Amino acid sequence: MDEQSFSDNGFSLHVKIFDEPAFREKLPLVDNEVHLYRIFFSRQKQHLGDFIRVLSDDEKIDAARFHFQTDREHFIISHGMLRKVLSQYLDVEPIGLKFSYGVYRKPVLEGTPDGCSLCFNMSHSHDIALFALAWNSRIGVDVEYVHFIPDAEVIAKRFFAPQENIAFSAVPPNKKLEAFYNCWTRKEAFLKAMGDGLSRRLDSFTVSLVPEEPARLLSVEGEPLETSRWHLSAFKPAHQYVGAFAVEGN
Ligand SMILES: CC(C)(COP(=O)(O)OP(=O)(O)OC[C@H]1O[C@@H](n2cnc3c(N)ncnc32)[C@H](O)[C@@H]1OP(=O)(O)O)[C@@H](O)C(=O)NCCC(=O)NCCS
Repeated sequence: MDEQSFSDNGFSLHVKIFDEPAFREKLPLVDNEVHLYRIFFSRQKQHLGDFIRVLSDDEKIDAARFHFQTDREHFIISHGMLRKVLSQYLDVEPIGLKFSYGVYRKPVLEGTPDGCSLCFNMSHSHDIALFALAWNSRIGVDVEYVHFIPDAEVIAKRFFAPQENIAFSAVPPNKKLEAFYNCWTRKEAFLKAMGDGLSRRLDSFTVSLVPEEPARLLSVEGEPLETSRWHLSAFKPAHQYVGAFAVEGN
């Protein structure tokens, strides 16, 4: 387990990064703390039966809809694992957990309005899934598998905010891909924390992206106080992956 403490922007945040859940005892998660879990799908495939057993009937129906076996297995593993991870913090068996969904499909634990109680979010890319948890603070997480994107500049022009594009243009060619994924994962983490999906314009908020500079939410259009209410953090979940999470201060 890796531990990091941050103290900036009025935040005092303690992050624990777990490499696979232990499932042994109830875990303490205190206010101003974030727990992050990283799993590799390839290592979990052998437990597929265990994950299927904890899914709801609806999740089993959703899993069966996937055309490709790999996608189906990843869905089963990530949703089963999410239940097992959440259950470590609550007096509820994994199969007993009930979810409800926001307008833009952000899942929350049923009976807990978004923004209170045990908040969580998950993300998956290629062989990795991440799960992020915090009490009473909206949270969003994103992971991306880093691979060459031939039209990165075109995508940046289309989706990044003007200030992000200025910063992106100044990044040297050998750092461009890293900068691109920094921006992408940080924007996605913030969007996912807010839960309003792509209803929020991608160029209506700005994040830092320059490699080696800290992750920051720099501006939110029309909401100047938002930047001080959120903590944005970047990390490297594994070789060739970029990750970020955004968590609301309380
Ligand atoms: C759906 C979306 C939430 C993320 O999609 P994604 O990056 O493809 O997927 P991730 O693996 O990171 O996250 C998926 C998980 O987030 C959760 N999720 C779903 N809707 C969500 C929402 N509105 N808010 C937060 N979390 C959500 C679910 O647990 C989902 O898991 P599931 O698909 O297995 O049910 C949404 O932000 C989106 O459509 N993004 C489009 C990508 C884009 O244009 N990004 C621009 C960045 S510059």
